[in-house]
Amino acid sequence: MSEPGSLEHYWMPFTDNRRFKAAPKMIVGARDMHYRLADGRQVLDGLATLWCVNAGHTRPKIVEAIRHQAGELDYAASFSTGHPLPFEVARRVTELAPEGLEHVFFTNSGSEAVDTALKIAGAYHRLRGEGTRTRFIGREKGYHGVNIAGLSVSGVPSNRKAFGNLLMGNVDHLRHTHDLNRRAFTRGCAAEGGAELADELEQRIIPLHDASNIAAVIVEPVAGAGGVLVPPQGYLQRLREICTRHGILLIFDEVICGFGRLGTPFASQYFGVTPDLITFAKGVTSGAVPLGGVIVARHIYDTFMDSPGGGVQFFHGYTYSGHPLACAAALGALDTYAEERLFDRPNQLAQVFEDGLHAFQGRPHVIDARNLGLIGAIELAPRAGAVGARGFEVFEKCWEKGVFVRPVGDNVAICPPLICEQKHLEQIFGTVSEVLRTVA
Ligand SMILES: Cc1ncc(COP(=O)(O)O)c(C=O)c1O
Repeated sequence: MSEPGSLEHYWMPFTDNRRFKAAPKMIVGARDMHYRLADGRQVLDGLATLWCVNAGHTRPKIVEAIRHQAGELDYAASFSTGHPLPFEVARRVTELAPEGLEHVFFTNSGSEAVDTALKIAGAYHRLRGEGTRTRFIGREKGYHGVNIAGLSVSGVPSNRKAFGNLLMGNVDHLRHTHDLNRRAFTRGCAAEGGAELADELEQRIIPLHDASNIAAVIVEPVAGAGGVLVPPQGYLQRLREICTRHGILLIFDEVICGFGRLGTPFASQYFGVTPDLITFAKGVTSGAVPLGGVIVARHIYDTFMDSPGGGVQFFHGYTYSGHPLACAAALGALDTYAEERLFDRPNQLAQVFEDGLHAFQGRPHVIDARNLGLIGAIELAPRAGAVGARGFEVFEKCWEKGVFVRPVGDNVAICPPLICEQKHLEQIFGTVSEVLRTVA
């Protein structure tokens, strides 16, 4: 047996395990905008950890809610017995959701939320007598988690590569929305080209597969983990129009965009486009306890509830769907967002954030900067034969200087907690700038 404290046995996700174990970046505490490392150093969290700690770390309301709940009702399931908390969280989430999205199915993660949404979509069509609608349309560079269905509609090649035939065959992908040649250094959404991009759905995908075989289109309103890709104006509107015209469900994966990232509760409201389903996770508890879910339109829920035969309407669920501790954390987070008006923060900081990112234009290696709300990225030219190496070096050097930003290939992603202030943004940009001077 190895000694306590051994790093050997934990197989870390999405990590170069050997590299980490040789020089661990070990976080032992966190408060508000900062991590505390084992040696006492503070590191500024420039990515809300994994795009999720929107209210900041160890916030009192969330901590207290979890503590209280742990001593009151540690666990009760939601399979034919219930407990009050998920009902209340569902009510609060739908209060924030766009008009018409009125019911919530809980999961434990974004990946489960996506697989659940796809199953709801497929089962919905079947209940309506359109059981041929079994194909799902994702998008290149989309990230919808790592479960088989979510990965199948995702479009990040490195995540898919090792899983060849495991991926579902009943999938196709739209082109991504990134166009370095025409739109590098666009501030916010590009003014033009959105509708034409979305027209690919009606001009290529639907003629190829036929609408009668397509269940749903799933996209992130702003792609996050694929490199922070902001759609041109009109893109999501046009997708909505086409889906409606052809009876195809539209799913917005708002696992990153939801809970204030763009200055509205959901990106749907920011863009003025209402999908049929929204997947969420991360920010719903500000990352404190795993929780995810799917918000569905009334007509979808009603289709299940009115289905003939009686009994269980949807044979799906997780042991921990609506877990008491997760729901308590969600209520603490939702209270914190409301009391501190945190969904307004992206609007208040938008100009500083945008100016800070776009000041990198013209700097060595920088080929693009993108932003919307409080999410953005600086894209670096890849090194010949070593895609991602430059981005990773920037991440490591920033960490050494006390700032956490995330490499997504050669993109340096920035997505701070919504409690951040101008001084934090200045520290993030100042550190990236300093580091870029030292990167070959
Ligand atoms: C848009 C989107 N969907 C789904 C997921 C998967 O969420 P999880 O890691 O909680 O399974 C993520 C995670 O980053 C995401 O960004």
